[in-house]
Amino acid sequence: MGQVESSPVHAQWKNRVTFIFAATGSAVGLGNIWKFPYITGESGGGAFVLVYLICIIAMGIPVMMAESMLGRRGRSNPISTMSSLAEEAGASRLWRYLGWMGVIAGILILSYYSVIAGKTIAYIFKILTGMLADLTPALAETSVQSLNTSVFALTLWHSVFMAATMYIVVRGVNEGIEKAVEFLMPALFIILLILVAYAMTTGAFIQGLTFLFKPDWSALSGKTVLIAMGQAFFTLSLGMGAIMVYGSYLPKGISIARTSAIVAFADTAVALLAGIAIFPIVFANGFEPSSGPDLIFKTLPMAFSTMFGGTIFGLMFFVLLVFAALSSSISLIEPAVSYIVENKGLSRKRACVLMGGLTWLLGMGTVFSTNIWAEMTLFGKTFFELVDFLTANIMLPIGGILIAVFAGWIMNRKNSVDELEMSEDGIGYKVWRFLICYVAPPVVVLVLLNSLF
Ligand code: TRP
Repeated sequence: MGQVESSPVHAQWKNRVTFIFAATGSAVGLGNIWKFPYITGESGGGAFVLVYLICIIAMGIPVMMAESMLGRRGRSNPISTMSSLAEEAGASRLWRYLGWMGVIAGILILSYYSVIAGKTIAYIFKILTGMLADLTPALAETSVQSLNTSVFALTLWHSVFMAATMYIVVRGVNEGIEKAVEFLMPALFIILLILVAYAMTTGAFIQGLTFLFKPDWSALSGKTVLIAMGQAFFTLSLGMGAIMVYGSYLPKGISIARTSAIVAFADTAVALLAGIAIFPIVFANGFEPSSGPDLIFKTLPMAFSTMFGGTIFGLMFFVLLVFAALSSSISLIEPAVSYIVENKGLSRKRACVLMGGLTWLLGMGTVFSTNIWAEMTLFGKTFFELVDFLTANIMLPIGGILIAVFAGWIMNRKNSVDELEMSEDGIGYKVWRFLICYVAPPVVVLVLLNSLF
C-alpha cells in the first residue's frame, strides 16, 4: 500500500463489498437463528413478527445509517468518535458516555453470546459422536438438558469460543475479520434454504407459516413490542457502537444508505428463513413454540436426524452457525479493544487478553444460570436473562435513541448531508431525517416507558 496519508493507525475496508460482508457478518448471527425463532415462539408469533419488521424498516435502517455515518466521520473507536463529533458540533462532552455505554453493552452481550455459541460447538461434537441416530423428541430434550447441567462442558465450550474470537480480533480488521466472512455468509444462506426445503416435507409447513405470519393481536402487549424493538436493534447490531466502529473503517465515496439497506435486507431474510425452517419442525415433533432459548437445540437435531444426508447437513449447519456467531462476536468486542488500543496505548494483544478475560469471566454467570445458579433469580430472571434483558431491551434501545438524537438534532445538518453523500433536497435524505428526528426517539421512549412501568 505504501504511504498511508490520513491516519496510520486506523484501518480501512478494502472496498464496499467487504464492508457489506463485515456488517452483514456482524448482523447475521445467533440473533437470527437462535434468538429470533425462540422469542417469536415465546411472544406468540405473527403479530410479533409484524412489529419486528416495522421496527427494522422505520428505525433499524435509519439508525444503521446514522451509526455508520457517525463512525465514518469520527474515524475512531466509539468513545473518541463521540467526543470529537460532540466537539465539532459544539455539544456537551457528556456525549462520550454514549460511547462508553456501547463498549460496556458489547462486553455484556458477548459474555452470554459466547456461552450459546459454545453450545453450538458442543452440538458439532454431539453429531460427530452419533447423536442423530434414532433421535426422538424426548431424547433431544434430554440431550440439551444434560449439556445445560454440566458446568464443565459449558465452561469448556464457552472458553473455546472466546479463544477463537480473540484469535481473530488480535489479528485486526483486514487479516482476521474480512477473510472469514466472505465465504461464510453465502454458505450459511444455502444450508438454510436446504432446511426450508426439508421443513416443507414435515407435514406441518402450513401450520409453521401460519404461526409465523398470521397476526394474533391478543398476543401483543407493551412488553412484546419492547422485545420486538430490542430484537430489531440486536439483530442489526445497532445501538452500541459496533456499526460505528465498522463505519469508521469505511472509505469515502460509498453510499451509506445503499449499504445499510442491503445489510438490513440480508439480515431479515436470514431471520425469516430460520423461522420458516424451524416452526414446521416444532409443530411436526410436538415441541412447544414457547420452549425458550433451547428451541433450536431441540428442533434442528430432530430435523437432521430424519433428513436424508442429515449428518452431513447437520454438521455443516452447526459449523456455519459457529462461524456466523464468530463474525458477530468480533464486532461485539472490537469497540472495547479499539478504545484501549487507541486511547490507553496498550498493544492490541494486551487489550485482547484483558477484554477477552473480562468477558469470559462475566460469561461464567450465564454458564451457571442453567445449573448451580438456576434458582438464584432477581425479578424472576436468572443471571443470563437479566444480562440479556438489560442489554437488548434497555441499553440498545437507549443507545439507538441517543444515536438518532445526535445525528438528527445535534450534528450540523450540512455535515450529515456530506457524510451520507446524499442530496439535501432528495426524498431519501428527507425521509431519513424525518425518521431519525421525529419517529425513532419518541417511539423508543414511549415503548420503554410503557413496558417498564
Ligand atoms: N447482530 C448479532 C446477531 O444477531 C449480534 C451482535 C453483533 C450485536 N454485534 C452486535 C448485537 C452489537 C448488538 C450490538 O447475532
